[in-house]
Formats: sequence, structure tokens, C-alpha cells
Amino acid sequence: MAGLTLGTPARAEGTVEVLHWWTSGGEAKAVGELKKSFEATGGTWIDSPIAGGGGDAAMTALRARVVAGNPPTAVQLKGPGIQEWAQQGALNDVQAVAEAEGWDAVLPPALAGIMKYEGQYVAAPVNIHRVDWIWANPEALAKAGVEAMPTTWEEFNAAADKLQAAGIVPLAHGGQPWQDATVFEDVVLGVGGAEFFRKALVELDQDALTSDTMVAAFDQLRKMRGYVDPNFSGRDWNLATAMVMRGEAGFQIMGDWAKGEFLAAGKVPGKDFLCAPTPGNGFVLNSDSFTFFKVEGDENLTGQKVLASLIMSPDFQKTFNLAKGSIPARTDVPLDDFDDCAKRSHADLVKAIESDALVPSMAHEMAVPRSVRGEFLDLVTEFFNSDMSSQDAVEKLAAAVKRAM
Ligand code: BGC
Repeated sequence: MAGLTLGTPARAEGTVEVLHWWTSGGEAKAVGELKKSFEATGGTWIDSPIAGGGGDAAMTALRARVVAGNPPTAVQLKGPGIQEWAQQGALNDVQAVAEAEGWDAVLPPALAGIMKYEGQYVAAPVNIHRVDWIWANPEALAKAGVEAMPTTWEEFNAAADKLQAAGIVPLAHGGQPWQDATVFEDVVLGVGGAEFFRKALVELDQDALTSDTMVAAFDQLRKMRGYVDPNFSGRDWNLATAMVMRGEAGFQIMGDWAKGEFLAAGKVPGKDFLCAPTPGNGFVLNSDSFTFFKVEGDENLTGQKVLASLIMSPDFQKTFNLAKGSIPARTDVPLDDFDDCAKRSHADLVKAIESDALVPSMAHEMAVPRSVRGEFLDLVTEFFNSDMSSQDAVEKLAAAVKRAM
């Protein structure tokens, strides 16, 4: 392959097969931007979408492809999952691109660390998603006499009671394990604070897992089970977002990919929908990134380098994140054209870093190995769909996590 000059994104001839799970309206629009930009370099994009929010189905498909000796060139992957695949020798590095373009200088150190294996970049981050958000329909809130977004769980419960009394579903929710876990971890942050979150959901401390604080978090989750509609089971997250758009539901607790969904439907933040952090102090971090699997052939290797360079280009980080609902992973992209939810996300991120209140998402695979996450998801979902007591929940959870460690 001739003429590969690092640092200049406009190069031809590369091919990438990209495995991802971005299939909702907002997600498809965002990944469409990546495809368009890649094709503009003259490259060939082979799309391999695997539907299923949170990526669980995509990860199963990935494993099958790797076992069959036929990995995709680029895969949406994150957190400890990157390290797990790198340890197995499954990844190519893109260190030459990263060095030529000075990635270290423009990424938050916590994020850069996740992208590297043995000091070499094996992944490129596209964004910073915040998990601890509440989305709301202002008309539905007004109808129910809810005057402001809740800032405590007590206020949330009071607002939900009012919505229920007005015949509006208080909480739009999809009963899928990763969605249950998303709500759960936001509640853990709100009830216990960032330090507790870290002890329980990252360090897997047995005392934290069995503490009264964890019991209180499950109590709040039990309360929220009463705020979802009877058809919640198995519902996709974007259909839950649509319930809020239509005013059938008042709130949804979901990461800011939900904002991508509102925007793709032409909704205006602050007018058609509201955003606010879930009660509590902190920031639950989720970042999407692409890893580069061991493939051969000049065309594929070029494709990986071109894609890595493109993902990290400031223009792309802006365009992509305007559609995705997240904020750029690069710290040097101006946010002037972003909405107030994105600006709030950035301000709170900076605050959380300063006050040591930034925590990695357990539900979104930023915190613990997949096996441990699986135990959390199973237990939280079992709790949500049964009459298990909070005390039983913490004991079962602590024992399951211990077994998986
Ligand atoms: C990903 C998002 C995605 C969401 C729903 C999260 O784990 O980080 O990019 O939009 O799942 O599919």
C-alpha cells in the first residue's frame, strides 16, 4: 500500500468492517456520520450492526466471529473488555497513529488509560456518555402539577406519585437486564454517593455490598418498580424514550444516548424535553470506543489506521457527538454548538473530576469484568421482577459477586 502519511485523514483504499450496536434512530444517525466520513476518504465501509441496546448481543456475535477466526476489522467495545481482548492477543495497536497525532495530549488521562494495553493504544474513543440522567416531558409534568425536575429521590417519588394520579406512566422503562442495571447504578450513586458507588460497584467490597446503604438503594428500586407500566418487560430503551416524547410517560432514566433519540425525532431540548442529572452528586461515565482486531492485508490495516485517525479528528468528534447525544472524548473540541444538556454534562464532568466523584459505569461495562457485571445484571433483574426483599437482594448479590471474582 503506497503513500500512507500519518496525520492526514484524507487517504484512500482502506476497508473496514465495523461491528456495532447502533441501530436506534439517534444511534443510526451518529454511526452514519462515521460511515460517511470514512467513505469520504475513499475507503470501503462494511456495516455489521447487531441490534440490542447496551451491546450484549453484539458481544456474543463478536465472540463467535473471533472463535471462527474471522474477526471484524473494527469493533465497538469498551472498558475492561478492551483489556480482556488485548490480553488474548486479539487486537492490533494503532500506536503509530496515536503518537503522530498526539492523542495523549488531548484525551482525559482516565480515558486514555482505558484505550491502552501495555502502553500502546489499541482503541480510539468517540465520546463521553453520561449515564446518570433523567429525561422528562414538560407537558406531562405540567399536567400532573410537577413544577421542577427532582433533585432528591424523595422529590422523584413525589413527582412520580403525581404523574400516576394524573393517569400518566411515571417512569418509561424497558425491562431488559442492562436497562434495569442502568437505573440501579444511578440509584446507587444517588443514595450512597460516589465513594460508596466505587466501593460497591467497582471495588466489589463485601461490606459495601451488604450495607444498609445498599439495602436503601434496593428499597428505592422497589419503589420505582411501582412506577413502570404493565408492558415494560423486554421493551427496547428507545421505545421507552418514545413514550416520553409522546407524553405517555413523564420520566425516563437513561444515558444521554436518549438525547440522540429525541434529537433524531426533531425534538428541542428545554422545550419538547427536559434533562437533569439523577439525584445525587457525581458523574457515571460511559465512553464508546472502537478497537482494532487482528486482521491481515494492506487494505484492512490501512482501514484501521484511517478509521482511528478519523475517529480522533476534532471535526468528526463534533459532528458525531452532536448526533449521538454525548460530548467529545477530546478535551479540545469547543462546545459552542452543543445544547445545554451537553454543556451541563461537560461542566459536571469537570466538577466530578475535581471532587473525585467521577465513577465508571458498571451497567455499561466500564467498571468490572463481564462475568461480574453479568452477576449484577442477573440479580438486579431478578429483584425487579419478583418480590425479593432488599435484604435478600444484598445478600444474594454479595455472594454472587464473590463467586464471580
Ligand atoms: C452505549 C451507547 C448506546 C447504548 C444503547 C451503551 O452501552 O455506550 O453508545 O447508545 O448502549 O444501545
